[in-house]
Amino acid sequence: MVEVMKITNKTEILNLLEQEDDIINPLGFKHNNGLLKKDMNKKINEIAGFCEQILKVVRKFDKDKEIVFLECSCGKSYLSFVLSYILEREFNTTPFFFGVDTNKELIERCEEIRSVLGYKNMTFKHGRTIDFTPDKKVDVVIALHACNTATDEAIAKGIKIGAKYIMIVPCCHGQLRSQIKSHHPLTNVTQFGLLRYKFADILTDALRSQFLLGNGYYVELLEIVSPKLTPKNILISARKIKGRNKRNLEGYYELGSMFNTNFGLQEFFQERSSNDTLVCTC
Ligand SMILES: C[S@@+](CC[C@H](N)C(=O)[O-])C[C@H]1O[C@@H](n2cnc3c(N)ncnc32)[C@H](O)[C@@H]1O
Repeated sequence: MVEVMKITNKTEILNLLEQEDDIINPLGFKHNNGLLKKDMNKKINEIAGFCEQILKVVRKFDKDKEIVFLECSCGKSYLSFVLSYILEREFNTTPFFFGVDTNKELIERCEEIRSVLGYKNMTFKHGRTIDFTPDKKVDVVIALHACNTATDEAIAKGIKIGAKYIMIVPCCHGQLRSQIKSHHPLTNVTQFGLLRYKFADILTDALRSQFLLGNGYYVELLEIVSPKLTPKNILISARKIKGRNKRNLEGYYELGSMFNTNFGLQEFFQERSSNDTLVCTC
């Protein structure tokens, strides 16, 4: 078991982020006059709330282990940089980070920040999450606000590479909004546009959670920040249960058929055969 860290909760992480110029300046969170940028307030809070939950998971690893993270849809990789800083400073350990994003400029920016910070424990890759092949065994997959189905790519990638933890804070949920208009038990609810919109979000996260459950993960949903700050505040936190490798997607398919929807997560588990027809590899 790892030793108790000095920094554990969101408030302490926020205080650290506000005070430590070593990390906050390279990330561009402050103006030249030393004041925190107002438009970064939401992001800083999200990072602090997410880090708080990740630190709880980190404590479960052996102290001497190099914990390997994969940050999917990393953008400027604020989350990985902050985590790396906290773990090294507060815990005296150096984890390893992979970051992947489809935006080439952002990946180049990550490389620049990495070089300013002098971190050697990070690799950034331009491309889709689903196409990324890490050359180390990944322990924890993380994703903060990966757009729409990029969140599903992160979940699928985590399952495929056998990550022990998959921790995802989803962003916009576009896929089901147009699908749940009719032919399901709650049409009296979803006939109202605003409720349909909100319900699609709930259904999407329920399907994601069922998919993880069906792939041998224990799943918890929690809020990383107040919904007043952002409605995109839900963390789907999944832990691989030892010895539960058999896929059982009954709950996932039942939910999908109840609402007459076609959610795409299982499609990441299909491969093209030589005659180019889709073949399920479950
Ligand atoms: C809303 S931003 C979030 C960035 C970062 N995680 C953060 O919280 O600041 C979403 C990111 O997802 C990336 N993205 C979209 N589709 C992707 C995919 N299929 N694979 C990897 N990255 C993707 C975009 O380029 C963008 O940087």
